[in-house]
Amino acid sequence: MEALLEILEPDAPERALVQSLDPGRLPCHIAIIMDGNGRWANRRSLPRPAGHEAGVEPARTVIETCARLGIRYLTLYAFSLENWKRPRAEVDMLWRLLQVYIRRELPNLMKHGVRVKAIGRIDALPDPARRELVHAVEATAQNQGLQVNLAINYGGRAELADAFNAILDKARAAGTLENLRVTEQDIAGCLYTAGVPDPDLLIRTSGEMRISNFLLWQIAYAELFVTDTLWPDFTRADLLRAILEYQSRDRRFGGLAAAGAKAR
Ligand code: IPE
Ligand code: IPE
Ligand code: MG
Repeated sequence: MEALLEILEPDAPERALVQSLDPGRLPCHIAIIMDGNGRWANRRSLPRPAGHEAGVEPARTVIETCARLGIRYLTLYAFSLENWKRPRAEVDMLWRLLQVYIRRELPNLMKHGVRVKAIGRIDALPDPARRELVHAVEATAQNQGLQVNLAINYGGRAELADAFNAILDKARAAGTLENLRVTEQDIAGCLYTAGVPDPDLLIRTSGEMRISNFLLWQIAYAELFVTDTLWPDFTRADLLRAILEYQSRDRRFGGLAAAGAKAR
């Protein structure tokens, strides 16, 4: 948290937000559905691509803020499998933007010790975008700070189908297919996020009250935070407020309130 206070001006309003956070109860993993770029552009009578371009800055801010706060994992939903349904020109623009963004941000990611991972059906990306992404993953692989999972060409159901097929393939190779029984641990261990703890906090911008096929398995007990703010308008203060709200929640995981939590 000190690392975040360091970059804030003495009179920055975010200071009070940072200081009211409980450093012992930060979410280990934050996942974000970055939604509302098109509406942001629409409201300004701009073409939709302008909204996607305006969405780059909040992504940079959120990554830097999480890195400086000492958050361990951040998963950003950048392109869903279903987003291919959009007009070709918009889809092409998104791949170009991704390619340019990754190339331009790499030095910054290195500076903050960020490790980039990609989750989704990455093989189906257009070559230039895939190459840039793979390069960023390899170049940051040894970094020890925040892990950023970029969900690109990602679908939650596809991830589960891929996991089940991986389980079947392993069993076939081991000759254990006949009596195969599958546990929750087997499934979790074959997801794109294997080894990453489940998200504690799921943020969605632009007010939509839905999951849109994001991390279906992993969000079983995530705390949900939906804000009407459109993604290009999402600020550091918005992120800090979401974390503060998260810290006020009583997470019961099906059990009873923790001792000392206020009765409801
Ligand atoms: C989110 O913004 C970005 C992507 C899905 C790639 P949208 O493009 O979905 O913006 P809205 O929902 O149309 O406003
Ligand atoms: C979810 O947003 C996907 C991303 C943010 C990448 P969408 O805009 O695609 O979701 P729907 O269509 O509103 O459910
Ligand atoms: Mg949308």
